[in-house]
Amino acid sequence: MQVRPARPTDLPAIAAIEVRSFPDPWPEALLAGYFDDRQALILLAEEEEPLGFLIARVESPPRGGRTLHIHDLAVDPPHRRRGVGSALLAALTQAALREHISRLQLEVRVGNEAGLRFYERHGFRVTRRLAHYYEDRGAALRMERLLTPPASPSS
Ligand SMILES: CC(C)(COP(=O)(O)OP(=O)(O)OC[C@H]1O[C@@H](n2cnc3c(N)ncnc32)[C@H](O)[C@@H]1OP(=O)(O)O)[C@@H](O)C(=O)NCCC(=O)NCCS
Repeated sequence: MQVRPARPTDLPAIAAIEVRSFPDPWPEALLAGYFDDRQALILLAEEEEPLGFLIARVESPPRGGRTLHIHDLAVDPPHRRRGVGSALLAALTQAALREHISRLQLEVRVGNEAGLRFYERHGFRVTRRLAHYYEDRGAALRMERLLTPPASPSS
């Protein structure tokens, strides 16, 4: 499996995985907008075919400290529990460290146990509950993970 930056030609595959992954999938036009967003990072995991994707965006909250905010992450159902999501998250973490970004953040829908367990497994902690977060007024949990840059070799 390899993880690489996605290209606009990957959009139909990304949109298809989105549809198979969420009861309220984002439309392809919304996903397409991320390809025009200079602050967005779109990663694709693939073997012979696309397996999953992750969309994140660099954000600068008023309290300071740049954050990589995960907007979307999905692995095609037949390929779950094989480490694809973990590989996408590892690639995002590397990108964050390269850019000296020390915080990863996301929202996960209350009741999405797979999502919650996945992020907990990767060191994310719930920081807030957001009522009426989604269009259908469903609640979300905000989760965060602080990254520690690898220690530089001592001289
Ligand atoms: C959440 C999701 C991205 C995980 O992707 P994945 O490729 O299956 O994850 P991995 O194989 O890397 O799993 C790593 C660990 O996460 C946890 N995990 C993943 N899926 C889980 C599930 N369904 N139930 C419980 N724990 C789970 C486990 O600890 C797992 O390790 P294990 O398989 O050794 O037990 C995938 O289930 C998915 O696409 N879900 C639908 C979309 C979604 O909810 N996205 C997240 C919110 S934006």
